[in-house]
Amino acid sequence: MTEQLRPDGSLRHLLTLETLPRAQIERLLDRAQVFVRPLGERPPRSRSLAGLTVANLFTEPSTRTRVSFELAAKRLGAEVVNLEVQLSSRVKGESMLDTVYTLQALHVDALVIRDAEAGVPELVAAHVAPHVSVLSAGEAHVSHPTQGLLDALTIYQRKQRFAGLAVAIVGDVRHSRVARSAWHALRALGVTDLRIVGPAALLPAADEFEGCARFKSIARGLEGVDVVMMLRIQKERFGEADVPDGEKYFTTWGLTPERLALARPDAIVMHPQPMNRGVEIASQVADGPQSVIRDQVRNGVAVRMAVLAEVLGARGGA
Ligand code: CP
Repeated sequence: MTEQLRPDGSLRHLLTLETLPRAQIERLLDRAQVFVRPLGERPPRSRSLAGLTVANLFTEPSTRTRVSFELAAKRLGAEVVNLEVQLSSRVKGESMLDTVYTLQALHVDALVIRDAEAGVPELVAAHVAPHVSVLSAGEAHVSHPTQGLLDALTIYQRKQRFAGLAVAIVGDVRHSRVARSAWHALRALGVTDLRIVGPAALLPAADEFEGCARFKSIARGLEGVDVVMMLRIQKERFGEADVPDGEKYFTTWGLTPERLALARPDAIVMHPQPMNRGVEIASQVADGPQSVIRDQVRNGVAVRMAVLAEVLGARGGA
């Protein structure tokens, strides 16, 4: 595993939350909170990363993560390059590492990478020059660390604590990098009642999600929880297996107002998006008073600003 921290303990890469010390996670959340503004107010801006360049290298589709990394970098004064992979020399067969070496030669300081193949962010981190940082923007089903951070920040804003909370992660946990990073973050931050809830075929292997209680009934899994985190069915990761029928899935596993009533009355509802309305969640719930789904999106920019400031901050301000 590539070391994410520099010898002085500061963050250099962000590849996974699994091995990140609790103090480092808390530091990123504290920094992110400083960048949060209510909708309608101007977002904070600085020149702290002026003179530095951030490259977005996404080989899987993205709306929220790509746009918010771009906005985060620009709001800190960095230059941003968005490599259109389908228009790049990757389609002529150029390897990921040769693409990275090219960007590095063009004075890129941070590479933000989303890839469908497990291990790509770590491979790149192992090969970049010492001044370059690699940030995972979603790695296969394995890890989505900035999503884990923004989910933790959203929970903290509403609940003002992690200890004593009950959190249910519901749906296609097996294929979900969001679920894995939420588990890593919340476990590190002291959530002890962590539940994974879903049909047997969509729950992860028995040796994964250590410390989480498993529920194959949504009614039992939601009983008394403070946080309901719904997941999208990751159709693109099913391979040969059958993708569940949306209508049937909703009947058994969809989050309806009736099912949400089994959670605590002040429970919050989360979803990383993109959402399949009427499949994993009813629109009444997604747009209802307990939903914090749009807060998650807003917090995504703040978290990505915090991460960029953390990994590049010492070099900025040219
Ligand atoms: N939550 C999330 O990763 O969304 P995007 O795929 O749109 O980036």
